[in-house]
Amino acid sequence: MSNIWTLKSLRELESEAVAGTSESGSIKHLKRTLSALNLVALGVGGIIGAGIFVLTGHAAAANAGPAVSLSFALGATACAFAGLCYAEMASTVPVSGSAYTYAYATIGELMAWIIGWDLILEYAVGAITVAIGWSGYFTSLLGNLGIHLPSQLTSAPLAYDAAARTWSLTGAIINLPAMAIIAAITTLLVIGIQESARFNNVIVVIKLAVIVIFIACAAPMVSTHNWVTTGNPDGAFIPPNAGTTGIFGWSGVLRGAAVVFFAFIGFDAVSTAAQEAKNPTRDMPIGILGSLAICTVLYVVVAFVLTGIVPYDKLNVPDPIAVGIDAAGIGWLSSIVKFGVVMGLTSVILVLLLGQSRVFRAMAHDGLLPQSASATHPRFRTPYIATIGIGVVVCGFAGILPIGLVGELVSIGTLFAFAVVCMGVLMLRIKHPDQKRPFRTPAVWFVAPAGAIVSVILMLGLPLDTWIRLAVWLAIGLVIYVFYGRRHSRAGN
Ligand code: ALA
Repeated sequence: MSNIWTLKSLRELESEAVAGTSESGSIKHLKRTLSALNLVALGVGGIIGAGIFVLTGHAAAANAGPAVSLSFALGATACAFAGLCYAEMASTVPVSGSAYTYAYATIGELMAWIIGWDLILEYAVGAITVAIGWSGYFTSLLGNLGIHLPSQLTSAPLAYDAAARTWSLTGAIINLPAMAIIAAITTLLVIGIQESARFNNVIVVIKLAVIVIFIACAAPMVSTHNWVTTGNPDGAFIPPNAGTTGIFGWSGVLRGAAVVFFAFIGFDAVSTAAQEAKNPTRDMPIGILGSLAICTVLYVVVAFVLTGIVPYDKLNVPDPIAVGIDAAGIGWLSSIVKFGVVMGLTSVILVLLLGQSRVFRAMAHDGLLPQSASATHPRFRTPYIATIGIGVVVCGFAGILPIGLVGELVSIGTLFAFAVVCMGVLMLRIKHPDQKRPFRTPAVWFVAPAGAIVSVILMLGLPLDTWIRLAVWLAIGLVIYVFYGRRHSRAGN
């Protein structure tokens, strides 16, 4: 186990990827149908969602003020470094499984397990978070159309007070819309990757259009006063620190970056589709970096425009873009934007659930999870058992959990994976300098350590509670590894 290289060489991984022979017996391999454009769309589909539509307002009002656009730029920097490293890994080891596979190939089984377990926070818990957000926007959109669902069936029965660290009952029964969207997407993912990609492409076009329309209609209404003077007598773009770390000032910009980092999560999910890409070595970097670049530009512009039309202290609401629309006097856009948001969140859930099933499939293939999770459907050629299993669990939690509990956990888990991938790229360069690398991270000796360091800095921007939850989660994972993974491991046996 200590030297995974002798057990599973890159060459073996590569040939598995190319031939699709990684499964045993009669189980079929995944279908290679995704083009470079599909992969970029998959990235954009996974990236643009609750982060920009919900968290921007909170980060502006509570942490960074108008400088939330700087928070976005900082978050984008961390993602750009990590994205360059993911791109090299994905082109060199074009096997689905993302950071899990890269850790397996570079550091060893134990670290791979830790990252695979950690990725559940990014993908499955991410899907839960976004499904809860989806339910809120969907219910509100139906309200606009005159259809009112009973609140007992559209919100979580459990509430969590982060300050007091206490749970309480809300009186609601279950969040049915959140469960329904997970069930629908799980079904689509089982039916086929190509069908899922087509559906994603349509949604991506809709949500990009909605964002561009918002920018075009709201930009002329921007008042530069909002950037420098609102609630901020010194006239500074970054409001002075309020006396507490993370509440305005530069520490607020940093905390804001850690909060809006959630908005970038998803570009790395492209790498989980490596075995379904037509030409993974060439197209993986295009998908990862292309989607990241498009979303970064849009995010920074939206943040500038939003804080230019609404005083930042008015943005601590669940629907900041809708508030921006009202402030700009373009109310007619409200329902269209809500529709775009519902669509946008739908594709995020799709990409995250897709990513989770591929990671589980890779882990099961290595013996760290039950073999059935790596089985591919004979007709649909999708990992149906993993997909359905994940769908059922995510559906259950989406029905009962409050959104506040899960969002930051998703960010810390993803940042941890980013740091490991960045270091993994360097280790691979050292251990296997001659390995063929269709995409090489430029200035790797700067970019990779910088990616790891910035990821850790952003992790430090998250509250202690979130760290404790991460530690508890990883500890549970280690126990499972000791009692299951280590005993069933393909490498170990
Ligand atoms: N980046 C995704 C979102 O913002 C997870 O919803």
